[in-house]
Parts: sequence; structure tokens; C-alpha cells
Amino acid sequence: MTIRTVKTIPFTDQKPGTSGLRKSVTAFQQTHYLENFVQSVFNSLDGYQGKILVLGGDGRYYNRIAINTILKIASANGVGKVLVGCNGILSTPATSCVIRENDAFGGFILSASHNPGGPNGDFGIKYNIGNGGPAPEKVTEAIFAQSKVISEYKILEAADINIDRPGFFKLGMMEVNVIDSVDSYLKLMESIFDFDQIVNLLKSNSFRLCIDSMNAVTGPYAHKIFEHRLGASIGTVINGIPLEDFGGGHPDPNLVYAHDLVEILFAQNGPDFGAASDGDGDRNMILGHNFFVTPSDSLALLTANAHLVPAYKSGLSGVARSMPTSMAVDRVAAHLNLPCYETPTGWKFFGNLLDDSRATLCGEESFGTGSNHIREKDGLWAVLFWLNILAVRKESVESIVRQHWSEYGRNYYSRHDYEEVDSQRANDLVNVLKLKLTDLAGKNYGSYQVDYADDFSYTDPVDHSVTSGQGIRIGFTDGSRIVLRLSGTGTKGATLRLYVESYEADKAKHNLDTQKALKPLIDIAQEVANIRHYTERESPTVIT
Ligand code: G1P
Ligand code: ZN
Repeated sequence: MTIRTVKTIPFTDQKPGTSGLRKSVTAFQQTHYLENFVQSVFNSLDGYQGKILVLGGDGRYYNRIAINTILKIASANGVGKVLVGCNGILSTPATSCVIRENDAFGGFILSASHNPGGPNGDFGIKYNIGNGGPAPEKVTEAIFAQSKVISEYKILEAADINIDRPGFFKLGMMEVNVIDSVDSYLKLMESIFDFDQIVNLLKSNSFRLCIDSMNAVTGPYAHKIFEHRLGASIGTVINGIPLEDFGGGHPDPNLVYAHDLVEILFAQNGPDFGAASDGDGDRNMILGHNFFVTPSDSLALLTANAHLVPAYKSGLSGVARSMPTSMAVDRVAAHLNLPCYETPTGWKFFGNLLDDSRATLCGEESFGTGSNHIREKDGLWAVLFWLNILAVRKESVESIVRQHWSEYGRNYYSRHDYEEVDSQRANDLVNVLKLKLTDLAGKNYGSYQVDYADDFSYTDPVDHSVTSGQGIRIGFTDGSRIVLRLSGTGTKGATLRLYVESYEADKAKHNLDTQKALKPLIDIAQEVANIRHYTERESPTVIT
């Protein structure tokens, strides 16, 4: 087997976004596109030679081809050993778990998360570092810098290896170990939660659940964990086979895209508990019978009930949420006397807080929650956390959430997405709004008065790195907020996200429809940011 050095020229668009490099499949299919990026990763790293890397993906179209290409580039660059998920399947949280368990140098995750897949869909690649988490900005910037000057890459000339079943292979000097995709992850979950109590809950005839894997990566995990290990009846997991195009669906667990599950849970006589995960298994949506739990509320509830879970019984060191996430968890943190951190959007900003034991639980409004057990958000972990709580409290999801609101008040919260907007116009909206910010404080809009208006900037308390331009915040004197930012994960045009939040302490007012409760603030956002004009849209594409 020989190592070939291939001449190439740089692509100008390989800047990793909120979550790795995400592009259409056709972009990745360009000659040398994937190879350039992978070689740029190696060129930006030091000391990986002879070390272990982890490799897997969400099973989407191009996953298998990319895995064999990456293996050959890794071998040519002197990697010692690669652990590959069987069939190329490793969820994002499982990859983080395997990196940590094996003291690996890092890993590649092949996924475009919740973006649609298939030949006309998206593909993506993320590099994770030795703590199991997404590469921090200084690493992604170094990768991008390399991608702009790359002139050649190294690749082993060899036949593809068969990743369909666990086994050991040799690729040049490098070892390849194809591993079971689920085993390590299941072991970790067993060490965190009270599986015996959950088994008892699922045994009782009065409790029924439904888990929707959305034809994406969590299928094998959910079948093994819920049906085989925890004894839920066969058929509990729906859409449980990972498909290259996710069955034509949009593997994003929210009320719009996980409609199969929503219909089941909102039917008369529907199950007591439902959950869905996204393409790569790091997101979750939690439903009770006839009841939707917002991700922000879910984070607050997990924090308030963490003492019921064996791994968190002895207390949390702190909590963290991304800036646009609702402030519901802040109230629980204040009550429990815990530090609460507000970070920019994207899981990578939680890494330092978790490594430094400043936070135990973290979450984002975008259906992501996780803890210090790994360095990624974790969909099935959140589902097991909820089941553990339900097994101990023996109450319905709705009753647990309503009690929480009675105790802490309710944060009405919604996100409006304007997708595929003209990029220039979206940037104009943001730039014009930025110019207005200094004049906004003190202004009145109806009964609301602006308390502060700024462009969010974050100083990491651990390494003191500063990340600016992270979204426009307009806060009102009653604690309500409007946040606007442009997505860093979209692949077509720009996506404008508007986040709206208002706090209601009065229990008698906890039954309002969310959109109605937030209507005055949504109107203010229109007025201040001229959203209809710049997006050329009458209404958002997706409301969650
Ligand atoms: C979106 C979410 C963000 C999440 C990211 C990756 O990023 O908003 O919370 O971390 O996907 O799953 P955005 O498109 O907003 O940049
Ligand atoms: Zn994801």
C-alpha cells in the first residue's frame, strides 16, 4: 500500500459554522472538497501521530463514502488507530462518549444534524477534540486558515474496508477497529440513571411511551436501550431504522417536523410520554400526553429535579444556557444558589465550563440539553432523565411542568425562523438594527420600556477568550426579551431567528396560548427590526 500525495487548490468556503462544515451533498462531491477539509484539519493539529481517532456519522447519504476517504487520509497522515462505528453509525453524543472512554486524540462526526439528507440534501463534517466536545473557535479558525492555503493532501492507496460488522483491520500502518455503535453509550447511561426504577415504570401497565427516531441515527440506540434493556414493548420506537435520506423527512424534533409523534401524543388515549431525536441524536423533544415541554422549560425542570437522578444526587456545580434560551433555568439556579452562565449559541461554548466543573447541566432553546457526562448535547440522555424523574415522581409530565410554573413562574417563549432569506437583505436588517441599538434604551413601546439593547459578546470565564457579534438583545424593564440573530448552520441563503420571551409570575395567567401571550413583543420586534421588509416574508417559515 502506498501513500499518494495529491496536488490540490484551496476552496474559499470551508469556514466551519455553528457546528462544523455544513454544505449540500453536491458541494462535498466536488473533486478534492472533502479531502481538502480533512487534510486541513490534520495540518492544523499537532501531535495526533500514533494516537487514536474516533469516526462515525448519522448515516446520511455520503456517510459511507466519506468514512473510507477519511480513513485513508488518516492513515497517510500517521494516525495510530481509528475507532469506527459499525455501519458508519455513531450518534454525536456516542462519539463524544467513545472519545472520552478511549482517551482518543479527537474524532470526526459526519453529520448535518437536523438538515435534510439524501443526494439533494446536506452533508457535514465536525472535528471534536480530546475532551469529546466540538472544536473551540481557535481550532476551527486554524482549520479554516489551513483550508485557504492547502496545496496538497496525503491519501493511502488501498481498497475500502468493510464497516458492516465489528472487527479489526489494518490500513497501511494504521489499525481500524469497527466497534458496536451503542455499547459504550448504553454503559454510560446505566452509570447515570436509575435503570431499575425506569424498568419498573415501564412494566406498569398504566404507563405508555413512544420514541420517534425520525429515521435517523438514534434508531439502533433507542431499540437497544428502551425496548431491549428497559423492557418497553416492541413497537415503542417508531421510525427506528436510519435511512440515507431520513425517509424524505426533516430530522428535526420540533412540533412542525416531528408531526407523526405529535399526532400520537395529542390523540385521545395517546401515550403518557413521547420523545423525538434529530439526525445525529444530540437534540430531543419531550412531550407528555397532550402536552409540549419547551426545551427551555425542560432545562429548568431537569435542573430542579436533578437530585432525583443518581449521578446528580449530590448536587450540581452550576448551569449554563445559550443566550437566546429562555431565562427559566436562571430562576431555578437562583433558588438553588447555583452559578448560571449565559453563552453564545452553539455547544462548543459549554466545553470550558464543563471541563472546569463550573457547570453540570447545559441547554439551548433549540432542543438541546446535556451534562458533564460528555461534551455534546445528548438527546437520549434527556429522554432518560425525564423517564427517571417520572419513575420517581409518578406524576404526569403536564402536572410536573405546571407545578414547576406555580413555583417559579412561567417564561412564555417562542422562536420564529425566517428561512432562506436573501443573505444581503438579512445582513442589512442586522446592520441597520445595530446602528439603532444605542438609542433604544429608555424608549417606550406600548406598556414596554427598553431596559438595554446590545450586541451580545461573551468572555469565557476560563480561558478569557472573547466572542463578539453573537446576536442582538433587547431587554425590557419587566424582564421580557427580544433576541435576533442570523443562523450559523443554514446552507441556503440566510436564516433569521427571532426569539421572544416574557415572564409571568401569576398562576392564573399560565394557561395562555404562547403566541397570543407574546403577541405584543412580536409586534415590537416587527416595528424595531422591520422584519417583513427585509425578509420579504409576511410570516415566519417555522415557529417553535
Ligand atoms: C442551531 C441552533 C443552536 C445549535 C446549532 C447546532 O444553530 O440554534 O442552538 O447549537 O444549531 O445544533 P444556528 O443555526 O442558530 O446557528
Ligand atoms: Zn444535531
